[in-house]
Amino acid sequence: GEENQNCLAIMQERMPSRLIATLRLAGEIAESIGSRAYCVGGFVRDFFLRVPNFDVDLVVEGDGEELARKMAQHLGGKARIHQRFRTAALMLPDGTKIDIATARTEYYEFPAALPKVEKASIREDMYRRDFTINTLAIALNPDSFGDLIDYFGGRKDLEKGLIRILYNLSFVEDPTRIIRAIRFEQRYKFTIEDDTLRFAKDAIERRLLGKLSYKRIIQELMLLLSEIDPLPALDRIMEIGVWEYMIPEIDLNKVSRTMIKRTPIIITWWEERYYGKNIKGWLVYFMLLLAGLDEELVIQIIKRYHLDNYARKAIQESRQVPQIVEYLWESREILPGEMDQRLDGWSNESMVLLLLSIKDELLWEKLVNYLDLKEQVKVEINGFDLKEMGLKQGPEFRFIFDELYRQKLNGIIKNREEELQMVKKWISEGKFNNDPVAE
Ligand code: CTP
Repeated sequence: GEENQNCLAIMQERMPSRLIATLRLAGEIAESIGSRAYCVGGFVRDFFLRVPNFDVDLVVEGDGEELARKMAQHLGGKARIHQRFRTAALMLPDGTKIDIATARTEYYEFPAALPKVEKASIREDMYRRDFTINTLAIALNPDSFGDLIDYFGGRKDLEKGLIRILYNLSFVEDPTRIIRAIRFEQRYKFTIEDDTLRFAKDAIERRLLGKLSYKRIIQELMLLLSEIDPLPALDRIMEIGVWEYMIPEIDLNKVSRTMIKRTPIIITWWEERYYGKNIKGWLVYFMLLLAGLDEELVIQIIKRYHLDNYARKAIQESRQVPQIVEYLWESREILPGEMDQRLDGWSNESMVLLLLSIKDELLWEKLVNYLDLKEQVKVEINGFDLKEMGLKQGPEFRFIFDELYRQKLNGIIKNREEELQMVKKWISEGKFNNDPVAE
């Protein structure tokens, strides 16, 4: 029946042949060290859903660490071993990332605290997981390469579009799964299965989410906000009564839906135009959520959830967006160099927020023109050139480079030659007269 279906044919249809070769090798090496390896989790789920997913997850009955090391030897990649969690991350030269874990029974165990962790089976490893759609595995050992392992009806639930827990205490054991259920439901336009929904609501009523640490809450919120369009999930979170355990100070009804809707469009536009400048999508949404709050509250929230320095700085910048829009609006003839004085050093995320906040077409063009210039314009002279002109290294070097950069943004000077002339002019005007060594 269903249980022993072999997926080799659809693997060959949907996976790059190089990946299949890598998986075969994983199975062969596993065999040679007396282990059994499986592809699992989100990778298999998305494989069946035809959703691109390049995070390969393997679970090993036996020795995952050894498999990771041997694979790195064979394929010339790097294996990073996390002994504490008995997992390894393998980075192959072609950029493929493979996470390898040794099968275990508990989700949140700390092996270091245990004398010896018992070896678990793939079935046990699947059983500790959140939803049936995440319990599919594909066998990799040579005797069974491509066999689908489906202990809990995951394949059927994938076809029916159902999010279903595996055991009644799942949400009690890990209330973050309530948020995960909503995330998957909205991402795939699935439905939370009736009993599962009842258990979720029961757990919410029992205030189990209140027991989660801020760290776990913010992790889940970040994952949720990393979805391409998090709006449906946020609505569902509100509807089901989960938001009050996330950031209760924020009234989701007051957050601009149009801005949230436009965000993925602007992010995609940005990433295409400024290739390589990848945006932390969650952070843009987070800024939007915070937009209506008082400064004090924002500071509290930043502290409470231990946001890192990058996020803190970006959020601080985002607070200035309304004033900046106003300022740009009022200074019609503003030059790129002047814009730079206000926006230099801004994170990409705050810049995206600024773009999101601009409705006037001309203003938009002006800002984009500035961003384009920023990509192209570089000061060509360096410290040696300045020293050659008789200037002594000091704080005015910074000033000179900044000023040259702005003049270049404004199109007043265009190349190295003109940069040098500009500095000469400044010297002759006595700009650096305070400096005894100048002249
Ligand atoms: N998992 C779980 N309970 C959690 C978190 C994760 O049971 N609270 C399990 C899930 O079954 C999942 C696996 O651990 O398949 C890996 O978790 P993660 O990488 O977060 O999920 P993915 O399924 O890969 O989801 P995504 O597509 O969002 O990365």
